[in-house]
Amino acid sequence: MTKVLLATDKPFAKAAVDGIKEICDKAGFELVKLEKYTSKDQLKAAVKDVDAIIIRSDIIDKEIIDAADNLKIVVRAGAGYDNIDLAAATAKNVVAMNTPGQNSNAVAELAVGMMIMLNRNGYNGSSGVELRGKTLGIHGFGNIGKLLAQIGKGLGMKIHAYDPFLDKAAIEKDGVICETDIKELYSKCQYVSVNIPANSKTKGSLNYELLSVMPQGATLVNTARLEIIDEAGLLKMFADRKDFRYISDVAPNCKDEIASNYAGRFFFTPKKMGAQTEEANINAGLAAAKQIVGFIKNGDNTFKVN
Ligand code: 3PG
Repeated sequence: MTKVLLATDKPFAKAAVDGIKEICDKAGFELVKLEKYTSKDQLKAAVKDVDAIIIRSDIIDKEIIDAADNLKIVVRAGAGYDNIDLAAATAKNVVAMNTPGQNSNAVAELAVGMMIMLNRNGYNGSSGVELRGKTLGIHGFGNIGKLLAQIGKGLGMKIHAYDPFLDKAAIEKDGVICETDIKELYSKCQYVSVNIPANSKTKGSLNYELLSVMPQGATLVNTARLEIIDEAGLLKMFADRKDFRYISDVAPNCKDEIASNYAGRFFFTPKKMGAQTEEANINAGLAAAKQIVGFIKNGDNTFKVN
């Protein structure tokens, strides 16, 4: 019997887990769960005899792949697959997939929600500022970026976007101003939301040189990955620019330094929360289960990333 492991250090909402189980049952697959695990050894033991794995930000490295004797497919229920060692998967003939777009709305809503929360000083009773009439720069105009543009427009913001993988027409058709130079985006926008993957090109790419061109009232929103920001540059921005604020879905490594020196100018989630909604869990979790069934039963390779 095909065995599917749901390995989620950060568990899905119950409705999503129930839905995944239903899809597996219908396909005649067995679902086993490893939730809230505390050590890599637990994951290593759990993968031993499974054919497929569904994960979130859980790390699937060479050691885990090598420990999975029957593994055929691993699906990242979400967008970013930087947590899977693709080379190790390919070397063992294991297919890796993601579920693009399925949790984007949750991330877009969180980005805007955090901007409003910081603008209103954490709802502490003091006077804040509004988003209406401000410029929103979208760095990476993919699924999240497009949803952010819609929300931002609804709030009366002026939207600019930069995406080196899209042509001008593809961005402008959404009523968004296309910037073809990344520095133009950062220099024109008070709020910049970063929605790019972490890879060898993007890691550390949000550096002082780029951030320092932001106008007065600069707020950077990172719901992507920690590694894309150069933390030395981030600290220099905080020190040099009293108007600069940083919002991040999970705290940077230098969070203590920021917290002790720059109160009121940052907000960090305690753990990655972008996709942490019931709807996103259902969308991404069920999509992952369906992709596994489609691959095992029919060899459907859609969304393969390796
Ligand atoms: C993603 O890449 O889809 C998001 O970062 C969500 O990650 P999570 O599933 O760990 O919440």
